Amino acid sequence: MNKLVVLNHPLVDCHLTVLRNRNTSPAEFRQSVRRLSMLLAHSATAELSTTDLPIETPLQPMTGKKLLNRIGLVPILRAGIGMVEPMLDLIPTSEVWHLGLYRDEATAKPVSYYSKLPESSPVDVAFVLDPMLATGGSASMACQALIDWGVPSIKMLSIIAAPEGIAKFQNDFPQIEVHSCVVDERLNDDSYIVPGLGDAGDRIFNTL
Ligand code: PRP
Ligand code: URA
Repeated sequence: MNKLVVLNHPLVDCHLTVLRNRNTSPAEFRQSVRRLSMLLAHSATAELSTTDLPIETPLQPMTGKKLLNRIGLVPILRAGIGMVEPMLDLIPTSEVWHLGLYRDEATAKPVSYYSKLPESSPVDVAFVLDPMLATGGSASMACQALIDWGVPSIKMLSIIAAPEGIAKFQNDFPQIEVHSCVVDERLNDDSYIVPGLGDAGDRIFNTL
């Protein structure tokens, strides 16, 4: 049951254009990542469970809703950090569990350098955050760590994905939904997404 949700929306197209433009400043780039993350969050959180919450409006009592489950946001360092704040705005009770991974430049394979996931008490639902899903290696390594922690429901959020990475990820984890703003043409010989946007971490943190 491979599920890939690609956002088809005019606002997504416009904000993606800002991200892709090489002349976009780091501040504008971060703002576009935030806006696109909000739109992704809308898609990826649609099936979250809620429970009744009795409240009183200024006019009368009524039954509202609150989230039922423990939610974890799992940004893949560094670039995933850019997606945390908009998700936290929407789900302020979320826990944030960082995973540090970088791609070895020679092999394009992910290398883990930071994880403080505990050994027990996993969150109920985890949203893995990374703007770029290129070969899919980093996304798969992150999701494997969450499965090892015991997380029963995981969703992968990316802003730009490559067909090659989607194929690998879905082969590794057919049960995990991927929500992406767009699927680009392909990977180039250096395993960068084209047309893509370049290096997302460097553009967010102004370290080009
Ligand atoms: C980038 C990106 C993903 C990864 C995607 O991180 O943010 O984590 O590459 O590539 P993959 O699908 O082929 O694994 P990078 O290694 O550049 O680290 P950074 O975020 O610290 O810049
Ligand atoms: N990481 C990035 O930041 N960009 C790519 O195109 C591929 C991996």
